[in-house]
Amino acid sequence: EIREMIQNVCSELVLDNSQLHKVMTAMEKSMNEGLAKETASTASVRMLPSFVRSVPNGSELGDFLALDLGGTNFRVLLVRLTVEGSTMMSKIFRVPDNLMKGTGEALFDHIAHCMAVFIEENNIDKSKKLPLGFTFSFPCKQEGLTRGKLISWTKGFKASGVEGMDVVELLREACHRRKDIDIDVVALLNDTVGTLMACAFKENNCEIGVIVGTGTNACYMEKLDKCGKLEGIVDKNDRPDQMIINTEWGAFGDDGAMAFLRTEFDDIVDKESINPGKQLFEKTISGMYMGELTRVILEKLARDKLLFGGHYEAIAQPHIFPTKYVSEIEAELKDDQEQTFSKTYSILEDIGVEGLSTADCANVAYVCSVVSSRAAFLTAAGIAMLIRRMGKKEIVIGVDGSVYRFHPTFPQLLDEKIGELLGNSNQEYRLMLSEDGSGRGAALVAAVATRLKQERG
Ligand code: BG6
Ligand code: GLC
Repeated sequence: EIREMIQNVCSELVLDNSQLHKVMTAMEKSMNEGLAKETASTASVRMLPSFVRSVPNGSELGDFLALDLGGTNFRVLLVRLTVEGSTMMSKIFRVPDNLMKGTGEALFDHIAHCMAVFIEENNIDKSKKLPLGFTFSFPCKQEGLTRGKLISWTKGFKASGVEGMDVVELLREACHRRKDIDIDVVALLNDTVGTLMACAFKENNCEIGVIVGTGTNACYMEKLDKCGKLEGIVDKNDRPDQMIINTEWGAFGDDGAMAFLRTEFDDIVDKESINPGKQLFEKTISGMYMGELTRVILEKLARDKLLFGGHYEAIAQPHIFPTKYVSEIEAELKDDQEQTFSKTYSILEDIGVEGLSTADCANVAYVCSVVSSRAAFLTAAGIAMLIRRMGKKEIVIGVDGSVYRFHPTFPQLLDEKIGELLGNSNQEYRLMLSEDGSGRGAALVAAVATRLKQERG
């Protein structure tokens, strides 16, 4: 009956399809607000134009540098697009926490430094100005492919003096300060766009890109006549009459649109975060918050004496339970036939939890599955809504991010739930993992931009 009491505490986190349909309706309304001329400036879901208007056709060629900043890893890449396909070299660099939260100048100096190291180590010809695609995984107001002002930091970043500034300009200035590297930033893009493009290179009908990683977000190909705010900026009689829109769906609910499903646990996680009141949808789903959300629930259960014989001190430490644990505990729940919970035991013991029993381990695993299932279902609601809205008969969705990659049941739960939510609409969809991240996508966008530039002369 302890399990029953625990289920009771968690009941609000278990969402049925009628609630998820409500999420779909509310999110589509928010997206329409983000696209309309009159409401765009105040809408919570920003629907940012990417200025990318077609997916690759396979004819893109050349050598490109790419930067990938904003996920778990900061990477510098060299991507070679040839008629046979593409090859990549890359190196991961660390972005220390003090740089994420220090000054913008120090952050961009570090990025330029890593680029210089990479160029040096790989004997890349410095006399040629290499075209560069910059994947910058934060909301940017772009006015073209090569310019974008950071609207606000999300996830763990908070470097000063960057919000409101053109991040391409900041990167260029940092390179000038060093004097030893010269770059030509030909494309700035969100990671969702990089993911979409990387997948579209292999599957031409990929028209949605989704990230479920540190943060969560989606982009999709939209018809220009649905983007009222682009009137006068892009001619909708142009062919193609479409553009990839970076939804920034992580901010869905920041205007209260998600109030009907928020729980006391969501409120705690939000209040403790560095951006309270912001990115509320993201905080119910992504890797930066999933572990903490689980911990907050476990703390409440321990305080209520439903877990750990009432020993709550260890589990009451903020951020002691990263999302990686959720994945590991659920992997054990799925694979360990005898249900010995040896991994779960050792995780909880490492945290310092006292008074552990096997029943506790099973109950912790249950809470993990409640939290991750809700995350998968909410992501599914967003994707199903986009599929329905786009109305294609067949569509591929490019997906990336640590939660999608490493959580043992997330991909399957996501896939099945999208199907349930679409009902018998006869729309065929397929989720596709972006094998090597968004770097190739950045190079592809850079390649198209370079080609167009050359054609224009
Ligand atoms: C990587 C992409 O594979 O996934 C990045 O190359 C993206 O562009 C990242 O930001 C998202 O996942 P995470 O878990 O690293 O935030
Ligand atoms: C955050 C960022 C968004 C990014 C997402 C996934 O939501 O605001 O731009 O795409 O994280 O990395």
